[in-house]
Amino acid sequence: MPDSRRLFFGLPLPDALQQAVIAWRATAFPAEAGRPVAAANLHLTLAFLGEVSDRKAEVLAALAGNIVQPGFPLTLDDLGHWPRPGVVWLGTRRAPRGLLQLAALLRAQAARNGCPQSAQPFHPHITLLRGAVHPVALPPATPGWTLDATHFCLYESRTERGRTRYHVLQSWPFT
Ligand code: 2AM
Repeated sequence: MPDSRRLFFGLPLPDALQQAVIAWRATAFPAEAGRPVAAANLHLTLAFLGEVSDRKAEVLAALAGNIVQPGFPLTLDDLGHWPRPGVVWLGTRRAPRGLLQLAALLRAQAARNGCPQSAQPFHPHITLLRGAVHPVALPPATPGWTLDATHFCLYESRTERGRTRYHVLQSWPFT
């Protein structure tokens, strides 16, 4: 058994929002725009950890469990396309301070514990489509959903029979 797993911290979407997003996505993008991310996989990454040993995961989970901060509403009113990674995303024009603080803390804790973080600034987003390497016509607006962030999670990314699934290993409520 390998003792390392591919992990990340993220914000989950409530089931009803996952369903609303995939219903809207089906009307907003043509099939050739990219591969839709499965509803259950929709999330916002806070800190990507990469391949992490069980021991390191325990340390990072304990540090995450010490975080005390209130929840926050997150308005999903932005859309974008990054052709290089081939990602179409849903995001926010004004990231709440709580979201930025949480991501900064998790990323700093990860970096201090041997999980190097990207030098790129944190750009909160929910990946909607992958493999979107050609120009994509983006709809002029999103439906303007609000995600009420009540907890964050440690996820494991597993690829089984060619399919990637994100499994929640642990979650922590905001205060
Ligand atoms: P993406 O959705 O923008 O591709 C699980 O793979 C999650 O971690 C995905 O949300 C993915 O972001 C993110 N991720 C994967 N590799 C990453 C990296 N090297 N740096 C930052 N985030 C990464």
